Amino acid sequence: MTQDEAKALVGKRAVEFVKDGMAVGLGTGTTATLFIRSLGERVQQGLKIRCVASSDASHNLAASLGMDITTLDKLPELDVYIDGADEVAPGLALIKGGGGALLREKIVASAAKKFIVVADQTKVVKMLGRFPLPVEVIKMALPLVLPKLAELGLNPSQRPAKNGNGPYLTDEGNFILDCACGQIPDPVATAAAIRSIVGVVEHGLFLHMASLALIAGDDGVTELQP
Ligand code: 5RP
Repeated sequence: MTQDEAKALVGKRAVEFVKDGMAVGLGTGTTATLFIRSLGERVQQGLKIRCVASSDASHNLAASLGMDITTLDKLPELDVYIDGADEVAPGLALIKGGGGALLREKIVASAAKKFIVVADQTKVVKMLGRFPLPVEVIKMALPLVLPKLAELGLNPSQRPAKNGNGPYLTDEGNFILDCACGQIPDPVATAAAIRSIVGVVEHGLFLHMASLALIAGDDGVTELQP
């Protein structure tokens, strides 16, 4: 099975966790996009749900599929949030933000009773840190935050825009620093150290947030619990 096939399979499986009448948080990224597309098909067949998205891209996609998509001010409590991840470690400790949406993803996830991760087998690791850890930073604080992350040994570098023209900007207009720090043996301590830096808006460590992970591989979809 290719990685794209695995992403499509798990996206489709996640739809089974969405029931009539639910308020659903929509993630961001290629796997979440495949989930949203599958969910859109079910909506077109009559599934009645309301949704909030974690990025402008996912919001616009859901709207284009005819889904009832709104914002947290109208729908602040969600039954479930379904999103991909860049890494899934034991305890369902995650690195997220490869797609640059970590801040809104963490906000929407925190509004949900249940957070289900959808990922292909390549995302499963024994210890977080193979994937560079994204940190979202207020623009004016960049010259202060960059050296502080470097002092912590996190090896930060500023993410460029996808088209190579200037820096990457999040939906909230902030910069992203990708920290190629290698293995993260104590994610709780790393998260606390990053959070203590003034000007950091959010980091991509999602700890004790996910309640279930659906992982697709050659044997189909397996479920991981925290
Ligand atoms: C976006 C994310 C994505 O969920 C993560 O990057 C995984 O993306 P993909 O499904 O495309 O591999 O956190 O900010």
